[in-house]
Amino acid sequence: MAYYQQPLDVTALPAWQALQGHRADLQDFSMREAFNADSQRFEQLSLSSCGLFLDYSKNLITYETRDLLVQLARECGLQPAIDALFDGKPINASEDRPALHTALRRPIGDQVLVDGVDVMPEVHRVLHQMTELVGRVHDGLWRGYSEKPITDVVNIGIGGSFLGPQLVSEALLPFAQRGVRCHYLANIDGSSFHELAAKLRAETTLFIVSSKSFSTLETLKNAQAARRWYLAQGGTEAELYRHFIAVSSNREAAVAFGIHEENILPMWDWVGGRYSLWSAIGLPIAMSIGMSNFKELLSGAYNMDEHFRSAPFEQNMPVLMALLGIWYGNFWGAQTQAILPYDHYLRNITKHLQQLDMESNGKRVLQDGRPVPCATGPVIWGGVGCNGQHAYHQLLHQGTALIPADFIVPVVSYNPVADHHQWLYANCLSQSQALMLGKTQAEAEAELRAKGLDEDEVQRLAPHKVIPGNRPSNTLVMERVSPRRLGALVALYEHKVFAQSAIWGINAFDQWGVELGKELGKNVYSRLLSSEPGPAEDPSTQGLIDFFRARHRG
Ligand code: F6P
Repeated sequence: MAYYQQPLDVTALPAWQALQGHRADLQDFSMREAFNADSQRFEQLSLSSCGLFLDYSKNLITYETRDLLVQLARECGLQPAIDALFDGKPINASEDRPALHTALRRPIGDQVLVDGVDVMPEVHRVLHQMTELVGRVHDGLWRGYSEKPITDVVNIGIGGSFLGPQLVSEALLPFAQRGVRCHYLANIDGSSFHELAAKLRAETTLFIVSSKSFSTLETLKNAQAARRWYLAQGGTEAELYRHFIAVSSNREAAVAFGIHEENILPMWDWVGGRYSLWSAIGLPIAMSIGMSNFKELLSGAYNMDEHFRSAPFEQNMPVLMALLGIWYGNFWGAQTQAILPYDHYLRNITKHLQQLDMESNGKRVLQDGRPVPCATGPVIWGGVGCNGQHAYHQLLHQGTALIPADFIVPVVSYNPVADHHQWLYANCLSQSQALMLGKTQAEAEAELRAKGLDEDEVQRLAPHKVIPGNRPSNTLVMERVSPRRLGALVALYEHKVFAQSAIWGINAFDQWGVELGKELGKNVYSRLLSSEPGPAEDPSTQGLIDFFRARHRG
């Protein structure tokens, strides 16, 4: 049986045992002292790859820590797991599928077999189909029912059919073809549709119904609302095909909705939703930034793929970030990971990384169904800097939880305004520095004395001004956010998540946990407005149903 069918108990491995002992040895470890003792620490604990520079020197690690973590990766069989990922082995064991998002960015000429069939010709045929489609929209050749060109493209999709495309098209707005505005409709909340429709004209709007399954409630309801709106605005059934296209692996359902066959771009079972922005699910990205920039995005991801599968672990960016996350989650009790982009265009990267990480590694059983022996995926949270400094950084600095943070910052801004970018960059670095340095009691007292406070006040206030410091962070720096570097950045996190799943022995590519809520939702929905009392739910749900029914009765 392959590793993914009979995963190891990672906590039983020698390296894990050694890391437990090492953790105890580091109880009094001080980053301040480590930097003072080793002038090479920054150089030794940083690396470049694919246009990204990772400084991981502000971590609670020594060189021995890194060696032991790398040893853990080896003992877990991480390299065979990486090879299995790229070779299309069914590493999604519960669904008996490969996870081949990496195939989507492989160059022409490569071969990737799925069930004995090389999928690369189809991958590149779809890229060509996207190129054609985007070209016709951008050149004004795609006309709506009133023979006007398309001015607005609306992606109707949720989860991986929304968050990745939204992240990338927002992050690459400087590359947008400003003639075509892109919008995202995801939530079923009617206010979401209402607010968007107010900005649109049906005659110049193209809807992309993006759904791998073409069975997701929110997406289908929004697609139906969009069709009703289109007809109410003067569109005709006969011309509907000019305003609705689809991306799905469920062609039959898309045709049944009323989308012409030639306007359905395929998705494949061997691409997970949260890993699918590189496929035709990325069509809204291409509509926004053009196909040549979309292909640059793919190239950036491909470069990170090659780095991930070939770099030695101690020089492997995704592996090191994965191991640091395991170090804090499994040996320091950290339960969350902060993602702090200091870039307006990257402000929503956290939302995509939440699904990527939490829907992949929010698991409690191993690939073979046995309970996991250790903590698995962290809660991913965060937001754009400097805003976070005025919202939640207080907890990062003086709270009681250990929260490792990833800072992400470009060196150059697309929109220089006076010295704003210098201040943005300075704040990013100083937040990471403050987390590491902190402020001792003695420093706090000296600061207060220097302000002329009397000793009673000094002693009263000092404890409130002490900042523990010694709190870990990584800093990812790039020249500026380009399609190629963004592709590498997103692929970096995809591979970090996968590497962690492989070390823990869990399946990063299924998501059975979301099924129960969907099933129960159908029952609650039916109870909300039905005239029949029906069987009593649990008292809470029943009480909340009654609250709704009382408001909507009659
Ligand atoms: O949240 C469950 C999920 O299946 C995600 O994994 C997926 O990205 C999302 O719903 C949308 O699924 P689909 O693309 O099939 O509509």
